[in-house]
Amino acid sequence: MEENVAISMPRIGDKAPAFKAVTTQGEINFPDDYMGGWVILFSHPADFTPVCTSEFMTFASMEAKFAEAGCKLVGLSVDGLYSHIAWLRTIKDKINYKGMKDVEVKFPLIEDITMEVAKKYGMIQPGESNTKAVRAVFVIDPKGIIRTIIYYPLSLGRNFDELLRVVIALKTADAFSVATPADWRPGDDVIVPTAGSCGVAKERMEGKQEGVTCHDWFFCTKKIDKATVLNTVLKTGKA
Ligand code: BEZ
Repeated sequence: MEENVAISMPRIGDKAPAFKAVTTQGEINFPDDYMGGWVILFSHPADFTPVCTSEFMTFASMEAKFAEAGCKLVGLSVDGLYSHIAWLRTIKDKINYKGMKDVEVKFPLIEDITMEVAKKYGMIQPGESNTKAVRAVFVIDPKGIIRTIIYYPLSLGRNFDELLRVVIALKTADAFSVATPADWRPGDDVIVPTAGSCGVAKERMEGKQEGVTCHDWFFCTKKIDKATVLNTVLKTGKA
């Protein structure tokens, strides 16, 4: 009998809701199978649809870059396993798009006909569709904590460079205890935490903290060069 699962909306900072599922790469136990590394769980509305096809080809073509950043990928839609397999085979055998061809999707794609997982992760958003998952993205850290959530509507394909930037920025923030400003890329200045005391803030404002530049007492930045960032957050150290 189909389980009646309530729709819930996980939040940033929550433990990733746990589930077991069948995928194109066998069964997975999420997030336990991914503990110790980063993982992106993402949903798409339906197999054999054009925006989703362009997304899967792009994501699969970038899988090595995500792997280099220590991040695995797991997809989901409310289609069944045989539909997933047929669609991924069609992509590999027939689709030549923007210079991408013969693209093999090697990361797991979850079958979720009952919508159990999609409902747990707030991927079913009735104002958009009752029967398809929206384009959700959950970036989950090595402890199984949700660190970033992004939702896109059905009609809008995602920017996968941005998702890679998110993973690298989160890892940089963790590794160096900093924040990353708007449009940050490795090599750009990072934001240092607000000074805990007036004395430190004054020192910074007077330029007495080496390498720290203050635009005002609450907004101070410092340089971390690109090589240092990449050596720390990427396995190969190269962007
Ligand atoms: C698409 O992937 O092209 C798509 C899927 C569902 C609704 C609209 C577009």
